[in-house]
Amino acid sequence: MEFASVVFYGRLGEQALAMFNLGDELTHWRGAAVLDCPGGPGSLSAVLRGAGIEATAVDPLYALPPGELERRALADLDLTMATQAASGDLRRDFDLDACRQEHLLALEAFLTDRRAHPERYRAAALPQLPFDDRSFDLVLCGHLLFSYAPRAAGGLMAGAGLDLDWHRQALAELCRVSRREVRLYPAHTIDLQARRHPYATALLAALPPGWQGRFSASTYDQGHQGCTDGLRLERCAPAA
Ligand SMILES: C[S@@+](CC[C@H](N)C(=O)[O-])C[C@H]1O[C@@H](n2cnc3c(N)ncnc32)[C@H](O)[C@@H]1O
Repeated sequence: MEFASVVFYGRLGEQALAMFNLGDELTHWRGAAVLDCPGGPGSLSAVLRGAGIEATAVDPLYALPPGELERRALADLDLTMATQAASGDLRRDFDLDACRQEHLLALEAFLTDRRAHPERYRAAALPQLPFDDRSFDLVLCGHLLFSYAPRAAGGLMAGAGLDLDWHRQALAELCRVSRREVRLYPAHTIDLQARRHPYATALLAALPPGWQGRFSASTYDQGHQGCTDGLRLERCAPAA
């Protein structure tokens, strides 16, 4: 499966909770400041806000006017569905029609939440975010790092894609704005028989100073088999 650019494609908040292993932790994070970067046209922020979490979403396309944003989401959903159906990268039993309906529900919830909380949806792009150091307790990053590496490196990009140097800068920025944790998903290659992404292995071996991390299994199913881990990073406890 290949794309010429990053698609504006979002998931249901409940699916994102599974991606990041947050489903059983909502009470733990109640009252916390959480950043979803990139938010895309997904409903994670809406679900977090409903659980009493102070959620902020970032995406460069949030700069578009609302009508254009919705048109772009629908066009990219069509493109993604067609690309997935034609690829051999998903299990045969994966239900793409159900998947499409879930994305439409996510888009609807995103548009509703964004209308209600426009200040919580910020237009910005990695590797530079408009936030002070340690602004958030938890930073979440789904389907950007690793996914949009070049195809030859296990990502989705037909051309140059986001290279390893970009990944290093982006991860340092995600860590900079987090007080406690950064979680990324997926940290695996995007193919039928997924395996740990080589960029994820490289980043984990050289994390920004003061951070430690590990691969983390996830129950989210987007049609791949094999290793479908994410990455979970934490600030190290200060030395006694
Ligand atoms: C595939 S979507 C993922 C959305 C959501 N996190 C998820 O997991 O469903 C990728 C998103 O990354 C956004 N994006 C592209 N370049 C970006 C950048 N440099 N920094 C932050 N977001 C970016 C796109 O606009 C798109 O909405």
